[in-house]
Amino acid sequence: MLIRRPDDIAPSEITASDVYRRRREFVQAAGMLALGAAAGAFAGRSQAQQGVKFAGIAKSAFSTSEKPNTFKDIAGYNNFYEFGTDKDDPAAYAGRLRTRPWTVVVEGEVHKPRTFAIEELLKFPLEERIYRLRCVEAWSMVIPWIGFEFNRIARLVEPTSRAKFVEFHTAVQPETMPGVRLPVLEWPYVEGLRIDEAMHPLTILSVGLYDQVLPNQCGAPIRLVVPWKYGFKSGKSIVRIRFVEKQPRIAWEKAAPHEYGFYSNVNPNVDHPRWSQRREKRLPAFFANRETVIFNGYGEQVAKLYAGMDLKKFY
Ligand code: MTE
Repeated sequence: MLIRRPDDIAPSEITASDVYRRRREFVQAAGMLALGAAAGAFAGRSQAQQGVKFAGIAKSAFSTSEKPNTFKDIAGYNNFYEFGTDKDDPAAYAGRLRTRPWTVVVEGEVHKPRTFAIEELLKFPLEERIYRLRCVEAWSMVIPWIGFEFNRIARLVEPTSRAKFVEFHTAVQPETMPGVRLPVLEWPYVEGLRIDEAMHPLTILSVGLYDQVLPNQCGAPIRLVVPWKYGFKSGKSIVRIRFVEKQPRIAWEKAAPHEYGFYSNVNPNVDHPRWSQRREKRLPAFFANRETVIFNGYGEQVAKLYAGMDLKKFY
């Protein structure tokens, strides 16, 4: 993702590289927002949900038996560019994200478009799903999410026969997100799935982590989780879901089309143009300490979605 520019790549090819040069601007913007928060503009309301606990959450047969990372690992090392490009920026700045009131609009090619208040979504039957998360940057974690299958929403809005893909649009709050003042990516961060991928039982919307409401830096109040794809497919802080006919152009594909594709299935046989995907470091390890497995180890459940497709071409 945001990697310092190697000498052999022209600056024009890497949108993200000049962000490093704009770090000072980001820090200034973040500082100004902090003053606003201290003055009472956003404090309180934004943090009201942090740390709220869930009880009696059902366990899921889809969970891995691998040991989850600690809460500190999961909530302290994040990618959430709306709050900055360093791994500790989201934990430092996302506290101000306003997560109430929050609605998710579901629209497009559906018979029954609907706007859900977050309170309604929190009443869906929630489960714990312990999933591996593999970032395209070659680090990974094991995360005990709390959430529900996306297909529950889809069944309520009834997609039309023209709905072939689903777009996930995430929040843009310039008053709380210093990162959206910089052109790191095109905002809002939009992700997308083919409709059969979205309807797959492994695809969830997460509202919690361990026994708590999702920390803001992890995508509060609701984020997507697609465990067999690179982490960037999992859009954070979702506000709009659109069922569409055409394959959407996703945030990273727009930023660097030669590096990121729509499918983004975890695949050790398809290297990123600038690094190998063969191995990964399972945090908190410092060096790569394991082999990456195709579809992040979920091949038994999802490989059939791609039968007959050339995974090197549709990367
Ligand atoms: N969603 C939004 N809105 N903005 C982002 O920058 N980063 C993505 C994804 N979702 C991102 C996002 C990337 S690159 C990854 S690897 C995962 O979130 C990281 O999720 P985590 O920080 O909870 O581990």
